[in-house]
Amino acid sequence: MNDTLTIAVSKGRIFKDALPLLAAADVVPVDDPDTSRKLILDTTNPKVKLVLIRTSDVPVYVEYGAADLGISGKDTLLEYEGNGVYELLDLKIACCKLMVAGFPNAEAPSRQPRIATKYVNSAKRYFAEQGKQAEIIKLYGSMELAPLVGLSDYIVDLVDTGNTLKANGLEPLEHIADISSRLIVNKASMKMKHATVKAFIGKVAEAVAARNPA
Ligand code: PRP
Repeated sequence: MNDTLTIAVSKGRIFKDALPLLAAADVVPVDDPDTSRKLILDTTNPKVKLVLIRTSDVPVYVEYGAADLGISGKDTLLEYEGNGVYELLDLKIACCKLMVAGFPNAEAPSRQPRIATKYVNSAKRYFAEQGKQAEIIKLYGSMELAPLVGLSDYIVDLVDTGNTLKANGLEPLEHIADISSRLIVNKASMKMKHATVKAFIGKVAEAVAARNPA
């Protein structure tokens, strides 16, 4: 039986917030990811490796079996167009909201509103559900700039403290979704490594429950 596990995770906030949960499952990276240039990290558990990749690539690695498990933001999963990735557990970390934002008290434009976002699929779905026509403009970052320079009327972006919006004279207007990081798996790993995956999830789930008492 193959009882090794490869877990895909992105550097940054998700990784930092996931460290205590991984530690609860006896998975502690041997190298410091902030100083190491390694993309595959050994852990204190010789059977578990972490692969460090971009956020939006995490479901891709998991779907194709390059990683058994992944830690991915719900925002990324809502955008993901692939198949065969299953959410196992809400890790309740890296929590924020996906929102429509814009200028306070701005009048709606007489033409179709333009929405700048990197969350194109979520934005399209949201406006369609609202029965509203909208032109979605794909950006890759710094969405807050778009209304300031007249590129768009609104943005769809993640809001945590709201400080970035405020600093740019914008405010949150409509809530689209609550976002947090999820533990994901592919079907093959779930089947072939069932006992190992189950034991890992059990320990992580206990740690999540301990940090978030009902
Ligand atoms: C996110 C998001 C906002 C900001 C919101 O960007 O896109 O810009 O955080 O946080 P706040 O409400 O606490 O100000 P991030 O820093 O993750 O970088 P990104 O623009 O590359 O997504």
